[in-house]
Amino acid sequence: MPADFEKQSYWHERFSSETSFEWLASSESFMSIIEPYLSTPSHTYENAPRILHLGSGTSDLQNCFRSRGYLDVTNVDYEPLAIERGRQLEKVAFGDIRMKYIVADVTQLACDFLQDKRFDIVVDKSTVDAVSCGGNTALSRMASFVRKYLADNGIWISLSYSSARFDIEQLPFGVEVIAKIPLPKLKESDPEIYHHCYLLRPKDPNESKMGT
Ligand SMILES: C[S@@+](CC[C@H](N)C(=O)[O-])C[C@H]1O[C@@H](n2cnc3c(N)ncnc32)[C@H](O)[C@@H]1O
Repeated sequence: MPADFEKQSYWHERFSSETSFEWLASSESFMSIIEPYLSTPSHTYENAPRILHLGSGTSDLQNCFRSRGYLDVTNVDYEPLAIERGRQLEKVAFGDIRMKYIVADVTQLACDFLQDKRFDIVVDKSTVDAVSCGGNTALSRMASFVRKYLADNGIWISLSYSSARFDIEQLPFGVEVIAKIPLPKLKESDPEIYHHCYLLRPKDPNESKMGT
């Protein structure tokens, strides 16, 4: 990815004309990986898993959650146009807007809207890749953001093009790859290339302090 993918100005310009685009994989295929980690869908708001979707962009992932009955979805992006696009996509698909949309930078811990909110599952589809264009410090800050807003026993599911996305020091999460999505080959002889779907679970705080 070019280095300016971490800059809001890049996304602002892009979303000025782009209304719908899916990075790395369709929302449906990402959803099929996430779904086993969600509890049974509930149409009552109180019992639904609390879902935080980071860097929603112009993806329709939030609509996949809603169409399966998951309504407690908070979509975050630092570019206001992305938030506008997300709301439009929900309105077009369902006729109204019931999910939440907030403008926030996931590399900044303080977030007026989230404050003491906690989530059972955090998801991102290639937002880690955009943030990582700002270097490992930016990625570490995103990891701290996720850690802060995760509920006890919460999980983070992240889709990245990189096979080494979370190879950074002092990550406060244990990491495993739960799925690899093969890229279509142009020629039979082309090598196999995959996108990687990671499951991250918070480490014990004492363990993270030791950097293990
Ligand atoms: C590669 S796109 C992925 C968009 C969407 N998840 C998808 O799969 O199509 C990265 C998205 O993350 C957002 N983003 C990048 N850095 C961010 C940050 N620090 N805080 C919040 N959003 C960010 C961008 O505005 C963009 O919408």
